[in-house]
Amino acid sequence: MTVRTLASLTALTIVFAACGGGEQQQTDATPEIPAPTTEMATPAAMPTSQMPAGVTAEMVAEGNTLFHGAGICMTCHGQDAKGVPGLGVNLTDQEWLHSDGSYEAIVNQIMKGVTATESKTGVAMPAKGGSAITDEQVKAVAAYVYSLRG
Ligand code: HEC
Repeated sequence: MTVRTLASLTALTIVFAACGGGEQQQTDATPEIPAPTTEMATPAAMPTSQMPAGVTAEMVAEGNTLFHGAGICMTCHGQDAKGVPGLGVNLTDQEWLHSDGSYEAIVNQIMKGVTATESKTGVAMPAKGGSAITDEQVKAVAAYVYSLRG
């Protein structure tokens, strides 16, 4: 290895170290919020026959829009609904912390939210996530959440 190569390697190392330092500072400022993902959770291709009574494919589609829009669910549960550490939990797995995971239970859960005492993380979820969506829209967003199960 020539001295020249060594010198440029050293320069590269310094550049990397500098970049790493920059990232570190950013992470320190916002420790609990990871870089936002752009990936949106798409409803599992759940056959209509497996949907709970009263749920339609249209409701699931509307719920998808609400989850990422007026319902503001994605601010705590993530664009991909897989949760944001310190904010909202993963809604795409089979694990239900606060109910039996039935469609009715999810509707009720979204309607009333989760108190800080009930919350496993101590972080509360306001009723309807603090959004102004209607009761009908809660049913649609619940249909979407229901469709995400792994
Ligand atoms: C302010 C942050 C926040 C917003 C906004 C929010 N949630 Fe939550 N959500 C939480 C927290 C916190 C929990 C409970 C986590 C725990 O127990 O650790 C939770 C729990 C849930 C659960 C129960 C999960 C389980 O495992 O039983 C569902 C379902 C849910 N949220 C759906 C929604 C929907 C749908 C929306 C949008 C209408 C929404 N959330 C908006 C923070 C939020």
